[in-house]
Amino acid sequence: MGKSKAARRLLWGGACVVAGLVGFTAWAIKPAIAPVTPPAPISFDTTEIQRGEKLAAAGYCVTCHTAAGGKPFAGGLPMVTGFGTIYTTNITPDAATGIGSWSLAAFTRAMHEGVARDGSHLFPAFPYDRFTKTSNEDVKALYAYLMSQPAVSQAPKAPDMPFPLNVRLLQAGWKLLFFKEGRYEPVTTQTAEWNRGAYLAEGLAHCASCHTPRNALGAEKTGDARYAGAVVDGWFAPALNASNNSPVPWNADELYSYLRKGGTAYHGVAAGPMSHVVYQGMALVDDSDVHAVAHYFASMNGSASRNVDVAQVVAGALARSRFDASQTVERGANVYAAACAACHYNALSGPQAARPELGLKSSLSAADPTNLVNVILHGVSLKEGLPEAMMPAFGTALTNDDIAALVTYLRKTRTDLPPWQGVAQLVAKQRDDAKKN
Ligand code: HEC
Ligand code: HEC
Ligand code: HEC
Repeated sequence: MGKSKAARRLLWGGACVVAGLVGFTAWAIKPAIAPVTPPAPISFDTTEIQRGEKLAAAGYCVTCHTAAGGKPFAGGLPMVTGFGTIYTTNITPDAATGIGSWSLAAFTRAMHEGVARDGSHLFPAFPYDRFTKTSNEDVKALYAYLMSQPAVSQAPKAPDMPFPLNVRLLQAGWKLLFFKEGRYEPVTTQTAEWNRGAYLAEGLAHCASCHTPRNALGAEKTGDARYAGAVVDGWFAPALNASNNSPVPWNADELYSYLRKGGTAYHGVAAGPMSHVVYQGMALVDDSDVHAVAHYFASMNGSASRNVDVAQVVAGALARSRFDASQTVERGANVYAAACAACHYNALSGPQAARPELGLKSSLSAADPTNLVNVILHGVSLKEGLPEAMMPAFGTALTNDDIAALVTYLRKTRTDLPPWQGVAQLVAKQRDDAKKN
């Protein structure tokens, strides 16, 4: 009796699992959308194409969809994730290898649901979890712009991921757990400018994709972790919420200048992955949109209530950097005097964006010296940094020990924060990782 009850229970349990799997599979399988003949560029309205161009800049489509030395939007850029390497696809209007045969409906489904024209699930390395917030009208303008670009024949590369991570159907499971489809909904208690900023930042501009830490399965964390800062491509994208400890608060003016021009006197320059956000993104969109994004972050980062006397903080940073000459017994001080002081000495003129005062940089107040070490090893090239300035690379001129001594010295003399731990290992790791790429 008992035995058959157990057997029945087992059967029932098994039936549930099967039904669940069948249900999941039925839900997970998406239909293909019929291919179309690539629409002629002339079929699109010119103003719509121009609007699409700015939206494409706001979403940095070209940054990810262009390989080093490759044609714009033709894809092939490797993106190294914790799960393997994914290559970006060709989003030029080539019918065979790009998205030329995609109807507006197919393109919209990709942007809003992360599903390709053939019905397969796309990986979230494509930030559709953010693009889903983009309005239908804006997706239509993006489509008009992309379909008016030169078609490039270049077949996309298959992802380099171990089984079963490469099974696209399983991406549906990820979506079930972490993805919420839906357009941006304005917050009625906020101003139009705030909502515009939030619409762009939370959607197309996907600031959170880099600035919010992710869980073990690669989904953005929520709650207090939103914009709490995260590691991305060997850099640290600092916090954009109230936990940002930059000596001078990030008010709307500072954010605007940094995003629009790539640097400010009080915050230094955008380097590494943030450089693309500026030069392939915020420098190309409407001025009012950059102000809106700046306003949105300034309203959430508590900068207004930090009560910092900026003049005093700046004077303090300048005074500290004047000490260097008297610290010559220390190795880090010697390295600084020999390699850095000639350019990073602002005592007479005050800080300038093109000559960042190191004590004001958040890379010195960060939890570890990742970004500082990267800048020392690789410099900030003309293309990457401010158009009128560059910082040379010291990767060959300085040894790992020199760099470790230098950053330890800078942390000690420019901040009141505890010394960094494990600096030597970190310098070696950043140097080795750079060689692999
Ligand atoms: C952070 C990098 C990144 C950015 C930024 C990005 N994409 Fe992508 N995109 C990808 C990756 C990676 C894939 C391929 C995903 C896959 O293979 O599952 C992809 C795939 C796509 C696809 C599906 C194409 C296909 O052939 O399957 C479309 C459409 C697309 N992106 C459009 C855009 C547009 C439009 C923008 C700008 C608004 C954009 N992407 C910005 C990384 C990016
Ligand atoms: C591709 C990844 C990426 C994206 C997308 C991105 N950021 Fe960044 N961001 C970074 C990195 C990395 C840094 C550190 C750069 C440095 O130290 O020079 C950074 C630095 C910053 C800083 C300076 C913070 C500080 O305290 O020094 C601000 C402000 C900022 N980002 C705002 C934004 C905003 C706003 C957006 C969206 C419009 C955005 N970022 C999108 C990667 C990104
Ligand atoms: C030849 C002049 C020059 C020298 C020497 C120099 N720098 Fe720079 N540094 C610059 C300039 C210019 C920038 C701004 C770069 C840009 O935007 O193109 C900069 C930027 C920086 C930044 C800010 C990058 C960011 O993320 O905002 C740091 C940190 C830095 N330098 C550290 C150092 C250190 C440490 C040394 C010594 C090893 C050094 N620099 C030597 C000119 C120099």
